[in-house]
Amino acid sequence: MAKAAKKSQPRIVKTVKALREVLADWRKRKADIALVPTMGALHAGHVSLVALAKKSAKKVVVSIFVNPTQFGPNEDFSRYPRTIEADLDKLADAGADLVFMPDAKEIYPDGFATMLKPAGPAAVGLDDKFRPGHFEGVATVVAKLFTSVMPDIAIFGDKDYQQLQVIRTMARDLHLPVKVVGAPIIREKDGLALSSRNVYLSPPERAAAPVLHQVLKESAKAIAGGGDPEAVLSRGRAKIMSAGFKLDYLEARDAATLAKPDPQRKAKLRLLVAAKIGKTRLIDNIAV
Ligand code: PAJ
Repeated sequence: MAKAAKKSQPRIVKTVKALREVLADWRKRKADIALVPTMGALHAGHVSLVALAKKSAKKVVVSIFVNPTQFGPNEDFSRYPRTIEADLDKLADAGADLVFMPDAKEIYPDGFATMLKPAGPAAVGLDDKFRPGHFEGVATVVAKLFTSVMPDIAIFGDKDYQQLQVIRTMARDLHLPVKVVGAPIIREKDGLALSSRNVYLSPPERAAAPVLHQVLKESAKAIAGGGDPEAVLSRGRAKIMSAGFKLDYLEARDAATLAKPDPQRKAKLRLLVAAKIGKTRLIDNIAV
């Protein structure tokens, strides 16, 4: 069968100046704009965000930038997967209009001296505890993307749930006029949340990995059914560790603030997990 004709590649810009020229033209024509920030190595999870962006606004900008300031010194910045040709093909198929692909010097020129220091959901003892400085890097780069693109709407995955709450808070606190939207987690058939880091998993690690989602699902059901959260979670922690993971946390938190839930108040809960298998750190979460 003949291969389907490829859609035209989206326009690529590398500087904020070139980006703003395109955006100014769109705005003159009254087009609203959706932004999907990414670090590339795109998979079906990212593509689902672009699909939601297409439904939400006339024009879709996707950024691809492996942001050095959100990686710790012992993290995977240098080996983070970079698959730009395949990414551009996926974005063409998904119908992105513009790809912003800056070099590190464009975002962090010599003399760059202003980092954001988020607190609130960025200071609750979850990923902030295990990745010091991570959310400073995320909040700073996303604020720069917001002020560069000035999107009407920006779409993030629930996959990085703490990140989503940090970004919502940052946008609100800085009066950035952008609607921050969370989108559902896309999973493999066996429940493993899609992640650019899944390519690091060896076959036995990959086989063990779905335990994270299994435990989240079972625990959410047990807690929703009236089970004592601490008892439920401690069984879940044991199950994750016996599958070969080194557990950073499995916790139930207030879904909006990510603070420890107040038993007196009936706030919505979110279960969040982070654990390492071999050299790979995976995160996942679920609503109760
Ligand atoms: P990255 O890990 O590339 O993720 C880009 C976006 O895709 C994030 O909003 C993330 O939550 C979403 N995503 C990842 N896996 C997903 C899945 N399985 N289902 C649905 N959405 C998923 O997150 C970042 O990049 C960076 O921190 C960034 C926000 C771009 C700032 O540098």
